[in-house]
Amino acid sequence: MSLKEVLEELKQEAITKISESDSLAQLNEIRIQILGKKGSMTEVLRGMKDLTPEMRPVVGSLANEIRDVLSEHLEGKKAELELKAMNKALAEETIDVTLPGKTIKTGNSHILTQTMQEIEDIFLGLGYKIVEGYEVEQDEYNFERMNLPKDHPARDMQDSFYITEELLLRTHTSPVQARTMEKHDFSQGPLRMISPGKVFRRDNDDATHSHQFHQIEGLVIDEHITMGDLKGTLEVLLKKMFGEERNIRLRPSYFPFTEPSVEVDISCFKCGGKGCNVCKHTGWIEILGAGVVHPRVLEMSGIDSTKYSGFAFGLGPDRVAMLRYGVNDIRYFYQNDVRFLNQFNVKG
Ligand code: PHE
Repeated sequence: MSLKEVLEELKQEAITKISESDSLAQLNEIRIQILGKKGSMTEVLRGMKDLTPEMRPVVGSLANEIRDVLSEHLEGKKAELELKAMNKALAEETIDVTLPGKTIKTGNSHILTQTMQEIEDIFLGLGYKIVEGYEVEQDEYNFERMNLPKDHPARDMQDSFYITEELLLRTHTSPVQARTMEKHDFSQGPLRMISPGKVFRRDNDDATHSHQFHQIEGLVIDEHITMGDLKGTLEVLLKKMFGEERNIRLRPSYFPFTEPSVEVDISCFKCGGKGCNVCKHTGWIEILGAGVVHPRVLEMSGIDSTKYSGFAFGLGPDRVAMLRYGVNDIRYFYQNDVRFLNQFNVKG
């Protein structure tokens, strides 16, 4: 067989192989077998040195021609196989948009935060402003300005964490009353504020006491404010929190900074007043302390008690949340156990 014939045969064989190949990897193998350094074409062309000088250019140009043809076939097949591979991938990797998605876990506010925000919303709706106080407070504001001088026996009701003799962790949110009153400008209108926050007492921790808990202080001062305004305001609040059917009851009590002072009860939301384990069979649940601001408290903060009067109250959101959600131990709120906290995704 002449070299020409060998080349022709090689060409036909290669074209068949190329057209039969069905993967890019296989096609690459074929390319190396034919055109590579040790490929069959290369091998054949090595035989050129044995040809006569006249034949050399003839066979040479034929070889070039064949190499071009084969290169073209290889390119064509490569494009075809690539397209096929892409179509296959597109078909296999289609996304089924009807499959249910993976739910993304989001956190939620602590139940006490949610409770306080709900109460804040009610008071914002009534035109109150929200004031922040200090958790580390001066004895002056926490006690003295609340009509609790150093030797006052009622200081024993609020056993305290002192930092220095004059500085302590506030035992209630009432010092915010004094801080707000001394700054208030009555030419701008009456004072209506609430102040939510943490308070601290050296109580023995048990199911209903924690050394840290929350209060929401409320204070309204204007001309002609009476106990009637206090009662009406608390009725709105407690009905919104515990249901429209609730009644409220004021019982005489004692706080040095209010006169008269009251303890406020709501009719039991579980039994409706008949008596059950939630209301300890009394039909009523004690919910907050309140009263008419003591004239001395007004005067100590620079307010004329002959012209102005006011009411104040102190509400415990921990207790509100315990009652509403049937939580029987206040310490659950502070242990940060997600199994407990996740049950209160109230706002969703
Ligand atoms: N500060 C009182 C307490 O912590 C609650 C209170 C606030 C009572 C305002 C009357 C008026 O017990």
